[in-house]
Amino acid sequence: MLKNKIHILSIAFLLAGQISKAQSAVWLDKLDLSVATQGNGKPGINTSVDGKKLTIAGKTFDRGFGTHAESSLLIKLNGKATKFSALVGLDDEMKGHEPAVEFEIYGDNKKVWSSGIMHLGDQAKPVSVSLKGIKQLELVVTDGGNGPYYDHADWVDARFETTGVSTLETFNPIASEPYILTPRPAAVPKINSAGIYGVRPGSAFLFRIPATGERPMAFAAKNLPKGLTIDSQTGIITGKIDTKGTYEVLLSAKNAKGSVSKKLRIESGDKIALTPTMGWNSWNCFGHEVSADKVKRAADALVRSGLVNHGWNYINIDDSWQYNRDGKDPSFKGQFRDKDGYILTNSKFPDMKNLGDYIHANGLKMGIYSSPGPWTCGGCAGSYGYEKQDAESYARWGVDYLKYDWCSYGGVIDGLPDNDPSKVPSLAFNGGGDLDKGVKPFKLMGDLLYGQPRDIVYNLCQYGMGDVWKWGDETHAQSWRTTNDITDTWASVKSIALAQDKAALYAKPGNRNDPDMLVVGVVGWGNPHQSKLKPDEQYLHISLWSIFSAPLLIGCDLEKLDDFTLNLLTNDEVIAVNQDALGKQGICLNTIGELKIYVKDLEDGGKAVAFANFGREKAKLSYKDFKKLGISGQQTVRDLWRQKDLAGIDVAVQSLPLDIPAHGVAYYKLSPLK
Ligand code: GLA
Repeated sequence: MLKNKIHILSIAFLLAGQISKAQSAVWLDKLDLSVATQGNGKPGINTSVDGKKLTIAGKTFDRGFGTHAESSLLIKLNGKATKFSALVGLDDEMKGHEPAVEFEIYGDNKKVWSSGIMHLGDQAKPVSVSLKGIKQLELVVTDGGNGPYYDHADWVDARFETTGVSTLETFNPIASEPYILTPRPAAVPKINSAGIYGVRPGSAFLFRIPATGERPMAFAAKNLPKGLTIDSQTGIITGKIDTKGTYEVLLSAKNAKGSVSKKLRIESGDKIALTPTMGWNSWNCFGHEVSADKVKRAADALVRSGLVNHGWNYINIDDSWQYNRDGKDPSFKGQFRDKDGYILTNSKFPDMKNLGDYIHANGLKMGIYSSPGPWTCGGCAGSYGYEKQDAESYARWGVDYLKYDWCSYGGVIDGLPDNDPSKVPSLAFNGGGDLDKGVKPFKLMGDLLYGQPRDIVYNLCQYGMGDVWKWGDETHAQSWRTTNDITDTWASVKSIALAQDKAALYAKPGNRNDPDMLVVGVVGWGNPHQSKLKPDEQYLHISLWSIFSAPLLIGCDLEKLDDFTLNLLTNDEVIAVNQDALGKQGICLNTIGELKIYVKDLEDGGKAVAFANFGREKAKLSYKDFKKLGISGQQTVRDLWRQKDLAGIDVAVQSLPLDIPAHGVAYYKLSPLK
């Protein structure tokens, strides 16, 4: 009897074991997809990213994951899955656009499959990969090399074959709690301006002394060159210098708690924007919803939030101040320009000169945007054929900065088809790498801006085509985008950051590589949301843009600044590295696994060092390889984010302990001990 029972039990156990080891299908859409990171929108469960029926090349699908490049989803397999299969493709909902993506699958960080570049209308591509022995799987959608525009990408009929488990865990290993590192500014005055400022003789001079400390504050400036005066209450210096020359000025600020002075070298000559531009741009938060009112409010918020006291001073209007080719503006009467070819502004910008005056009255500068083609990227009137009138309008309105795109110029690179701008698509990117044809429109506008009776900083936005960093200076530009548009995703920040080194040696005072705007705070291109970058990713982003000497343009809604974002943008030591007068760009001198160590030489003989952890695991190590960084002897090590000296070390014999969070950074300044 007992024997029988044991026998029956052991059969039952055996069966149970077999059942639990049995193969089963786990559908991707049943997993928690909310942890995925993606360029836009929310992960679609059995829908496209826009919440519609999944559709690839005319075929619809009931099941799948609709996402947007650049996208990443991590899944723990722990050896329990044997196979992954799916169909992949671009969703038809973006018909009329030209998206491109690449689907990729990584097993334990090694690429195990890729779709190759796919375009809209391509048949869904089947994928079937063996997962034997793989612990961690990543499903990735890249931007296909042409930026993440309209990249609605679908993984359909996607499923795992598993053994012994009926579900799988998705995860995102990056910490999400914000934490504040920058100490609050003290009540005593502190002047935070760069040490150098460039202006052309005869141009309007406008410089607001950035200073933290209790108000009221009284400002003064000793040895100001002839033609300049300072307003002692606001610290705004205006006027014009007629002659070329170098002027050593001593700025000072005084309040009830004390006083302080700082040297400013004014270079009156040919070069402007000697330190990277700092300010705000409307695109990443407002997109086409920008208006004069929103721009004025951004200027007010820049002052009210105190950002202005840390050197942020440009207020840049991006696309959509002109009439759009869609003709939807209520005041549009079929004309983009007046009878003399001067551009008309849309109903949201009734008076540009007035807007310029408003911005300048705060001691701030005004930026604007256009494209050398007949249309901007957003389909508004571009400058093609009217460059002279546009340059004159900008000068008349008081514009201090022009961002000049590429977009539709590809469609007119060999002339205007049928003399009809309406035949040119807004997005025609071809030809930018052609060193004759691609440089020409930028030189044309650059020469015209240079000829205006005011300084207009010139930024080229052609995404690095034809190695723009090698020739941008010849067009009178001061900065140039090196890469495609940034989005508030880790994939975007990482790929842009890793693409900067090739241009680094071309950076110098008045010449900057521009990795695009800052994606912190409330961004969204018209669909406002908090940046999807995790706090550590934001520290890394700001640290790298600082060490790259990149133009720093805040892309968020300044009226919705939270404490974390404000703290991130007001660290004067981090900003000082960016604004350093030597003007070098930091470069990666050492790579250890996924840890990249960037170094920038500073004017005072010190070096900024950013230990940037691009990996998903924290980096804990004792760092010794200072030779590779060009650092020797006794050094003081200062933590820039905490504004605190760490121990002094002799790098020949001692090492530096590092404990850097995943996707995080340690940002230090090393100075030789005197
Ligand atoms: C391009 C630029 C963006 C923005 C838009 C406006 O995509 O790269 O930064 O200016 O155009 O349409």
